[in-house]
Amino acid sequence: MYSYKYIFLPTALIIFIFTFDYFNNQKAESSELLTDKVVYVDDVFIHEKKDFSKCRVESWNNKTTWEIPRIAKLKLLTEHGVTKSEGLNDGELRLISAFLYENEIVVTTSRQRTDKPQLGTPVFCRYFDCNRVEIPGSMYKSFFFPLTSVHCLRKAGASFISLSLAENEQPQVPIPFIHRLFKNPPNELGVCGGQIYGLDAKWMQIAEFVEHHKLIGANMFYFSVFEIDEMTRIVLNEYERSGFAEVSMINTEYTNAAMMRHMVQIHECFYRARQHSKWLLNIDHDEFLIPTKMPILKYIESLGDKTAELIFSMRRIAKFKESLENYNNIQEVSNDIQAINYNLTHEPTYGSPKVMVRPDKVDAILLHWSYGLEPGYKTIVVPKNVAFLNHYRTISPKFLWSNFIETLIKQKTKFIHVTLREKYVEKLRENVIQILGYVFEKHNVTCDNIPISLQRSTKPYLVKSGICK
Ligand SMILES: *[C@@H]1O[C@H](CO)[C@@H](O)[C@H](O)[C@H]1NC(C)=O
Ligand SMILES: *[C@@H]1O[C@H](CO)[C@@H](O)[C@H](O)[C@H]1NC(C)=O
Ligand SMILES: *[C@@H]1O[C@H](CO)[C@@H](O)[C@H](O)[C@H]1NC(C)=O
Repeated sequence: MYSYKYIFLPTALIIFIFTFDYFNNQKAESSELLTDKVVYVDDVFIHEKKDFSKCRVESWNNKTTWEIPRIAKLKLLTEHGVTKSEGLNDGELRLISAFLYENEIVVTTSRQRTDKPQLGTPVFCRYFDCNRVEIPGSMYKSFFFPLTSVHCLRKAGASFISLSLAENEQPQVPIPFIHRLFKNPPNELGVCGGQIYGLDAKWMQIAEFVEHHKLIGANMFYFSVFEIDEMTRIVLNEYERSGFAEVSMINTEYTNAAMMRHMVQIHECFYRARQHSKWLLNIDHDEFLIPTKMPILKYIESLGDKTAELIFSMRRIAKFKESLENYNNIQEVSNDIQAINYNLTHEPTYGSPKVMVRPDKVDAILLHWSYGLEPGYKTIVVPKNVAFLNHYRTISPKFLWSNFIETLIKQKTKFIHVTLREKYVEKLRENVIQILGYVFEKHNVTCDNIPISLQRSTKPYLVKSGICK
């Protein structure tokens, strides 16, 4: 019985393909279209809300909470205006992500108004079941904190969440949860990669940024993308595929997203990392943490488990050329490593420090510091001879603060030349080459490689259209 089936099916398939081919060719030859004059009306049945099957509540989602964790502290920070400082005055309420933690949900948005102070103003959490039907009586009145984010209670059976600015207002399109229900964060060290905006090529810098921090112990990267060029997107895709990165694609209502998006990106990164990375380094993708005495995680371990924040000094390194725009060959990539090419800098300073925090032990982060350290935990100012940041700053006038060298000269800064140890530099170069070669090194399709079975039907088209050579 079985063997009959195995012969019959392939044979039928072959006959079908040939008949199809034959009629297809026939059709192409006759120029007259034979049709009926009648127009047939096809019904398209709509699956109405009442037709949906009942939602099943899974055990992970069988949880309701009654109070936001650390609510008193969040209110206090709100009253003190923590994180209120940046934004455009006409921002719409647009949802980015909803992070599901054990005892709360945090919804991040791209709204960051400062005219009618947004921080602390009421906003309503709206809960939806698996069919995206709002759960009756589930609305919860919360407030904005930090600036762009909203803490919501958990509701058993909620599969989607949304926000509205008023109780009786149509909520935004509900979004699903990103699960952060781990007992222990699965990553030891995560890194925020700053805001990605503008269409200038960043693929080379981002590959070096990720590969460098992987080398010093990071295993997760968080990027917030407002605008992106195609090649940089390909590199981020690859890091997402291999589980090294999570990317928030943020769609705002503005034609150009450039600048003024720090709070959106920082809070997005912070909540994404909470319960996902034990430590979070809050930097931009042109900044590189340089541990010069011992591996950074070893240093952290030596500080004991009551440390929740590290403050790093920084030095700017003048970048005299812009990074590669197009990928031509791997040799050009090899010659474009910032860590090798640029060496003019100064002693690190704590003037604009950067921090590494435990996202579960602080209540918010800003560009250069954090807020609301949990009692009993301490901040360590990391000595310059242990670790600091190298900030590669371009001198191209296209970019913000590019005249920093003149400023440093005015401040009578003493410049120095530095070079990084060969052993590290070679490893970095090798890893950057490996990832960029993997995504960008391509070869053409040759017509000789087209399988016999497609020679008749498809090859003529591929040859004619130049897809194969
Ligand atoms: C959800 O919780 C209720 C009450 O605690 C319990 O009776 C029910 O079995 C739970 N359901 C699931 C799927 O865990
Ligand atoms: C610094 O960089 C310049 C330009 O690339 C190079 O000529 C010089 O040899 C470098 N100096 C050191 C100390 O690496
Ligand atoms: C692929 O073919 C195009 C068009 O003929 C040519 O310009 C290009 O150099 C080829 N690419 C490679 C990698 O051989």
